[in-house]
Order: sequence, then structure tokens, then C-alpha cells
Amino acid sequence: MSKHKKQQHVITHPLWLCGDTHGCVDHVVEHFLNARRDGVTPHLVFLGDMECAQAFDLELQEIREITDVWFIHGNHDTDTSQAWNALASSAWADKNLHGYVKEISGRSVAGLGGVFRSSIWAPPAPPVFASYQAFRRDLLTRRPPKDWGLKETKKERQHFSTIFPDIYSRLMTCRAQVLVTHEAPSCHAYGWQAIDNLAVSLGVSYVLHGHLHETRIYPRQGTCQVVGVGYRGIVSLETDDSISVIRAGDYDATGGLNEQEVESE
Ligand SMILES: [Fe+2]
Repeated sequence: MSKHKKQQHVITHPLWLCGDTHGCVDHVVEHFLNARRDGVTPHLVFLGDMECAQAFDLELQEIREITDVWFIHGNHDTDTSQAWNALASSAWADKNLHGYVKEISGRSVAGLGGVFRSSIWAPPAPPVFASYQAFRRDLLTRRPPKDWGLKETKKERQHFSTIFPDIYSRLMTCRAQVLVTHEAPSCHAYGWQAIDNLAVSLGVSYVLHGHLHETRIYPRQGTCQVVGVGYRGIVSLETDDSISVIRAGDYDATGGLNEQEVESE
């Protein structure tokens, strides 16, 4: 992002990136309230795998009126109807950044939730389906549902958290300062070159990802800084553009999740 573009925005609040919370946001509330006592009001972006037990805005009702909360979904947010509906049917359904660029506390933030799944698309291999709609049409053609599609099947729900080419391609035409993803870029052994390509196309200065349960500030690549945010970790993008770790991830000491846990099919 050019200096000229940066000067158009006044960065008003630290941006806290919250790594996979997996059913518990108590640590986020606690750290947020501590910051408030110190006179700082961070804005929040959750990086997926929230697995909420109730509507997401209700999970955070203690702080929902005093900050701005955004999110992307992770692969585990479609494991159950409850987890998915807690995001998709909550008052914050329109705070999902997946496929969009939004202005958040003076920064343009692009979001790509979910994961690549080879039954849909595992770049650089050609996609099996270009869009969710194409996947679903094929599914209904091969196996008409008993209820005529009025209620989603497990597969239909699972692919709400799959990255489809049409969403990715749309983001490739945008510009942003920050990219938040569930999947990692290729600087992680389980990452994807397609995320690198998206970051370059967007022109971002920061990529922050979840999914792999390890807080990691990667060696800088040109003008872009990549940061992994650990399991229940919190990383702050400060108003002066520095990065600080507010809370380490629970599994940082053991290198994040194991290979089996990364599996998303
Ligand atoms: Fe996770």
C-alpha cells in the first residue's frame, strides 16, 4: 500500500486479531476490559473457528456495545448447525468479512474465511466447482434431497466454510491494507501460495491468519508482514502500525496443532 493511500486514513484504534477461540471468549473479554481500564479501546477481528454455543453477539454481550467486532469463519464453524447459525443468524451476520473489504478503525481490511478443500478447490489445481451455487446444483442433480433442499445437508453446511474460486477472484480485484484469513500463506508449511498471491494482488502490508494454532511473526517478505495468531491468542496491530502479542496462544510452546488437526475435509 502506498504512503499516499495510508495518509488518507486516520487510524483510530488498535486492531486486535483474535486467534481460534473454539467455544470460549472469556480471555478476549478479560483482556479487552483491561485495555479499557488503561484508556484503550481496541477493535476486534476474530480469525475463525469461534464455535459459538450461542449467537456470536451474545457471546460477547459484555463488550458488544463498546467496541466494533468483525470476523471471518473457520472450517470448524460449520461442524454443527449450532456453530454455523451462531454466526450466520446472529445480529452480527453482516460483520463477516469473508469476500469483502471493509473500513475498520481507519484501515481497509480484506477477509477470506474458511479453508481450501480438494473436493472443491485446492489451488494450484483447477477447481472442481467455481462457486457454492455450482457445487449445490451438482449435489441436487445427483441426489435430490428428501426435503427438496429446504434444509441443508451436512455437506451443504460444510462447504459454507470452503473457499470457492468466485469469492477468491472477486477479492483479487480489490485493494486493501490488511488481509485476514483462516488459512495460512505459504510461509507456513501448511500454507498456500494462493494466499500469497491474494496478498500481493490486494497490495496489503499485513496478513494475519488463524487455523494453525500457533502465534508466529514470520520474517518480513518485502513490504508485507505475515503473522499467525495462536489458539486463543490475541495479536494487536497498533495505531503506529507496530505489532504486539497481547495474549500468547495456548499451544504456542508446542508448535501449534498437529497434522491430524489441520485436516479440514
Ligand atoms: Fe482452529
